[in-house]
Amino acid sequence: MKVGYIQASPIFGEKEKNFEQVKNLISDIKADLLVLPELFTTGYTFTSKKEAESFAEGLEGPTAYFLIELSKKINTTIVGGFVEKFKDEIFNSAMIVSRSEVLGVYRKLHLYNKEKLWFSPGNKPPKIYKIEDVNIGIMICFDWIFPETARSLALLGADIIAHPANLVLPYCQKAMVTRCLENRVYAITANRVGEEKRGDDHFKFTGKSQITSYNGGVLSSAPNNEIHVDFVDIDITKARDKNLNDYNNLFEDRHIEFYYNTDK
Ligand code: ACM
Repeated sequence: MKVGYIQASPIFGEKEKNFEQVKNLISDIKADLLVLPELFTTGYTFTSKKEAESFAEGLEGPTAYFLIELSKKINTTIVGGFVEKFKDEIFNSAMIVSRSEVLGVYRKLHLYNKEKLWFSPGNKPPKIYKIEDVNIGIMICFDWIFPETARSLALLGADIIAHPANLVLPYCQKAMVTRCLENRVYAITANRVGEEKRGDDHFKFTGKSQITSYNGGVLSSAPNNEIHVDFVDIDITKARDKNLNDYNNLFEDRHIEFYYNTDK
């Protein structure tokens, strides 16, 4: 199957322009899965909860409409980030859209820095979306630093982790090599580029979007300072074999009886 990402450069607060940017970058893409950055519709650096709320939408809002139209046009499953309003809370979420419908939404569990001032942490466990026999899990940006996120998705059966990001630290791309190796899953980290200087914050987003293979190999690495689109072919059967050799299986060899468990 063919999977890829768009490394975009969203303009803060300009949803329509951000949709247009993505639309112009996908003209003749033929792929099975496309991952867009975290908060690709709005930008990242909010200055208040009220401001973040002003961009929030539900699963029938402009982002859903845009992604549904896009997925119909290029016949592709798409995962992309947006500010989600649900009841009286807002979440840093990513929706998965396929075959003209929103299949679901992942709400970022591990909020970074001032995100904690605007967003509620995810209130649902990670989940797998099965599309034509491919198992897709979703995590968002800073979730990478908690190995439990990728592990949970892998234990649930993920073949591929779609990973929308707005990275500002330099460690994630290297960490994803380990996340993929220790779980034998593929991951698509769709980062953004550009800078945002708002309020007291000045973020430089680090680019280097990455497609990481089940064995830790890097199949695609984007530049750190330019918009970039890339797709690669992957064989998901490789992600279903958790054997490292005749004696070691990554899941069966775990000694969970001795691991620290906060339930106990
Ligand atoms: C991040 O989680 N967007 C740094």
